[in-house]
Amino acid sequence: MKILIIGKGYLGTRCAESWGDEVILSDKIVKTVEDVEALLAEHQPEAVLNAAGIVGKPNVDWCETHQLETIEGNTILPITIAQACQNKNVYLLHMGTGCIFYGSSPHGGPWTEDDYGNPVAVYTRAKYAADLILATLPNVGIARIRMPIDYKSHPANLIDKLARYPKIVDVENSVTIVEDMIAVFHQLLEKKATGIFHVTNPGSIKHQEIIELYEKYVDASHHNEWISEEDLVKIGLADKKRSNNIMTSKNLAKYGITMRPILEALEDTMKKYKK
Ligand SMILES: NC(=O)c1ccc[n+]([C@@H]2O[C@H](COP(=O)([O-])OP(=O)(O)OC[C@H]3O[C@@H](n4cnc5c(N)ncnc54)[C@H](OP(=O)(O)O)[C@@H]3O)[C@@H](O)[C@H]2O)c1
Repeated sequence: MKILIIGKGYLGTRCAESWGDEVILSDKIVKTVEDVEALLAEHQPEAVLNAAGIVGKPNVDWCETHQLETIEGNTILPITIAQACQNKNVYLLHMGTGCIFYGSSPHGGPWTEDDYGNPVAVYTRAKYAADLILATLPNVGIARIRMPIDYKSHPANLIDKLARYPKIVDVENSVTIVEDMIAVFHQLLEKKATGIFHVTNPGSIKHQEIIELYEKYVDASHHNEWISEEDLVKIGLADKKRSNNIMTSKNLAKYGITMRPILEALEDTMKKYKK
């Protein structure tokens, strides 16, 4: 299957590395429907993965004061790509984020694909705006991931982030093991799966458990201080409270897609990370 990936960033590149000859990884900046249609005409893909977006540099707080760039990259761009794909009848898998959910769900259980988000930050509002619109279209899938954990080192990899922070908040979250995400994305693209998908490993994990595995398998001499969520903002380490949540997927199973439980996948990832 010929897959066109738009967005040559961290996760687009990780997918491309795994999918070999099937994939065209485009680093072309696209702004208009015509730009995207030109890419489709050039590469004739059977499916498109939108891995382009604005995540903020050095971190997501950047988006709080760069609202227009954030909306441009995370709301307008996905709609533009979707318009071109609809016009040319090409399946689109769009990368969303689970950070559109803050805290506990209204029903008390893990957040499912049926739940409406309650985004707070500019980045999460812009991402959610795209989800709301794209979810109305045929031939489109939305894959929401959270806090990528990867055996390859990268500044956006949660292992790298936690290892370099001197002060950490011990929050509990659903997370995405990148190796599993790549396999799930490929299946979604192959099946041209439509609707919203929570691409997070079953279960949840505390930052402390990640650090414990890091110290067990990677660096026994690692040390950090533990602080409260309120302190994170108070001492200026974040501008806004981060989203913390636990998610689950009802929709992956409908396509026969499973992911490894988080503890099993994390331990395996940490061992590979060490190597
Ligand atoms: N990393 C995470 O923690 C995380 C978590 C949940 C969801 N996601 C989502 O996953 C997707 C990929 O994230 P990532 O971590 O791979 O981010 P990334 O490394 O910043 O990659 C995004 C890429 O998109 C490119 N881009 C921006 N505007 C574009 C445009 N108009 N046309 C073509 N390319 C454009 C960027 O180019 P420039 O670098 O030149 O701007 C960058 O190469 C995003 O949608 C993000 O919201 C990421």
